[in-house]
Amino acid sequence: MSTDRLFSFRNRWFTTSVGITLFVIVAAALTGFVWLPSVQKDAQFQGIWNAICSAAGVPRIWLPSEPVTSTLKTSTVVVTPQMLDQPETLSVGRGATLSMRCTMCHGVRGLSEANSPNLAGQYAAVIYKQLRDFQSGARVNAIMTPMVTDLSDQDMRDLAAYYAYLPRVKGSQPGSASVPGIVASGAPMRNIAPCASCHGGLDNKVGSPWLEGEPAIYIRAQLQAFASGTRHNDISEQMRNVARQMTPAEIDAAARYYSSQP
Ligand code: HEC
Ligand code: HEC
Repeated sequence: MSTDRLFSFRNRWFTTSVGITLFVIVAAALTGFVWLPSVQKDAQFQGIWNAICSAAGVPRIWLPSEPVTSTLKTSTVVVTPQMLDQPETLSVGRGATLSMRCTMCHGVRGLSEANSPNLAGQYAAVIYKQLRDFQSGARVNAIMTPMVTDLSDQDMRDLAAYYAYLPRVKGSQPGSASVPGIVASGAPMRNIAPCASCHGGLDNKVGSPWLEGEPAIYIRAQLQAFASGTRHNDISEQMRNVARQMTPAEIDAAARYYSSQP
């Protein structure tokens, strides 16, 4: 069999194999450059030409190049381990005076009888951060937001120093009740670290609030707010990632455990 007869269009083996190869090339190109990118919902894939360019990795500077901005306000507070850890007596005193306006809900000595969070003995950095977040709008609450509008940065530091100085809920010993699994060991398969690894009683991760003795209603409401995203001031979504994965039963167990008192 001579070579010129092999590569001839009259040889149907040759025509068929070239035909099949061309078909595979065209089908693959259409799939990879047109069909798959067109299924994407992102802005840069809109239209056939954009889809082709995106798949080919060609920069498309002619597309509107506005950076994507988030509509969610997040916290701008930088929390450090040293933050407010050595309050001055003067600061505590000023905080005590300022706290007169807060007693209605947070109690005379920072212990609420109205299902508002207890502030007594809360870490100063936590109180300061939450006040700053309420003021910036990163954390939104119809009751608290108007309370902080006219507070200066120093006012917030003083209030934090004062409340951190007050003694915590007396006799709160949740450790003695049986510890729910979610608190003690989390849920590794759902990427939930044990609550105690951040909110631990002996030591805590900077910025994680002291939870023991908080009203159950409050804890439950915060977990649900993190899960639904209505509360979104936690840095790097630390709490949203936890709460989203929790079942309603686990939220309930954690709330009852942390609020329990002997
Ligand atoms: C009218 C009632 C009311 C008053 C007055 C009030 N608060 Fe609150 N506070 C609340 C409620 C309710 C919440 C819980 C908000 C939520 O569910 O997100 C809260 C939350 C907070 C938190 C967040 C606590 C946490 O653990 O995350 C801080 C800090 C705080 N308040 C400080 C203050 C300070 C300081 C004042 C006085 C300047 C004050 N509050 C006055 C009702 C009040
Ligand atoms: C990776 C660390 C981490 C883990 C694990 C974690 N938390 Fe948190 N949690 C935080 C931080 C940080 C905040 C404060 C968020 C902010 O800045 O507003 C927070 C806030 C909260 C609050 C709101 C308290 C308040 O006073 O505002 C509740 C309730 C809470 N966590 C419950 C839990 C429970 C229950 C678990 C276990 C299922 C858990 N957390 C696991 C870090 C953690």
